[in-house]
Amino acid sequence: MSNSIIKSKDWWRESAAGIPRLITETPGPKSKVMHANTTKYMKGLSGQVKLFPVCFEEGSGITMTDVDGNKYLDFSSGIYVTSLGHCHPKISEAISYWAKKLMNAHDFTTPVKEKLMEKMASILPGKLNAIQLYSDGTTAVEAAIRAARAISGKHEFISAYRDFHGKTLGSVSCAQMYRGEVQSYGPTRAAGFYMVPRPDPYRPLWSKPDGTIDTDEYIRFYENFIIEGTVGNVAAFVLEPVQGWGGSIFPPDDFFPKLKKLCDKYKILLYDDEVLAGMGRTGEWLTLNHWGVVPDIVTFGKSFGNGFPVTAMVVNEENGEALEKISASSSYGGNPMACAAALASIEVIEEEDILQNVNSVGKFFMKRMLKMKKQHPIIGDVKGKGFLLGIELVKDKKTKEPFVEAGTLVYQKAFRKGLAWIPAGHILRMSPPLIMDEKYAAMGMDIIEDAITEVEKEFGYK
Ligand SMILES: Cc1ncc(COP(=O)(O)O)c(C=O)c1O
Repeated sequence: MSNSIIKSKDWWRESAAGIPRLITETPGPKSKVMHANTTKYMKGLSGQVKLFPVCFEEGSGITMTDVDGNKYLDFSSGIYVTSLGHCHPKISEAISYWAKKLMNAHDFTTPVKEKLMEKMASILPGKLNAIQLYSDGTTAVEAAIRAARAISGKHEFISAYRDFHGKTLGSVSCAQMYRGEVQSYGPTRAAGFYMVPRPDPYRPLWSKPDGTIDTDEYIRFYENFIIEGTVGNVAAFVLEPVQGWGGSIFPPDDFFPKLKKLCDKYKILLYDDEVLAGMGRTGEWLTLNHWGVVPDIVTFGKSFGNGFPVTAMVVNEENGEALEKISASSSYGGNPMACAAALASIEVIEEEDILQNVNSVGKFFMKRMLKMKKQHPIIGDVKGKGFLLGIELVKDKKTKEPFVEAGTLVYQKAFRKGLAWIPAGHILRMSPPLIMDEKYAAMGMDIIEDAITEVEKEFGYK
């Protein structure tokens, strides 16, 4: 790659030329052997791998290459992680600088941590600038739970059906426990953690006479639940701004503004878990920015370090002192490589005008998906903002019966056609790298549409 390309925002184009490039059947022979060798020992892999056991050895920009030399268009960003492209030169360089200079200094301040703190404070809304750093999403969520208790002096939490917040015990207490085959967490929801229904505009529990979702009824239910179903000690609502694992399900526009009012009325903190949706994926630093709501607590992960494990938990500066009670120090949180990755990622979002790209190509995605919805009998709904997208497959548009078998098949077929992406239940989920332009966005959607068409034929739809 020439030096001038590395420095320009087009650094990823050279490696994308000619994709998808498939030179063996997929998964190919080397993948098959490597997967078999690995799974002799490694157990409990995700559905993503089980349904398409390919082995990767390289990623560049919007592409991933498997061990047989097949090159795929990436529509998953790892798993919502490498949002600025695989191995972004600026980010890789920043990490390797510190990998050679200072890898760990516990929670002492380092020059790169100082810069990251200033940068984060400059992009976050309101007074969200009391920060702690961790190394995966679920530990940041655990910290947020501790912070909510420390700030409020209360101990109950309300989350929502189909939300996901991680796999440690506090996070599991706020999350959907049944995840396809994974249902053996057991009775681990801690005392004082509750779940309530969350508005899904396509499948409203409460709707207005015109059939559209009735947000006020959800809020009324929550208020009643706070009064009748808790002991009056609710520390926080714990919610994803948009449900990622749940199927790219966005709430109606009036939901978070109304929920924030309810929270303020009962002095309940609003904790916004942006681990999946934050840092530009929906076209804003925080997805809640779309609705003009500033949360009391927010967590970041995934895209935050573009693949390097670094996460953050942030609260309002007025509550910063309470964080003294929940010590931030951990073995890896805020190490210099992690800070460098996060700082470089934020700088790339600014320097390459990523938010603008996400908003404009995001509109293209939505237009294309709406067209597909009209043309395909099994597409019940399409949803998304920016580059966080979903296509909901149903057996019948009237009954809206989820079409899980079709989702699985579409996932496998599209992968075989050269699209590396995320498996579905009945909702196809897409999270392409945010650097992608319309040409490659269209290429990915073409592959998905072809796969849907084939599946419709197989199931006897016209
Ligand atoms: C909203 C949300 N919070 C927390 C997590 C947990 O993050 P991690 O897998 O890094 O522990 C996830 C992971 O998918 C997530 O989607």
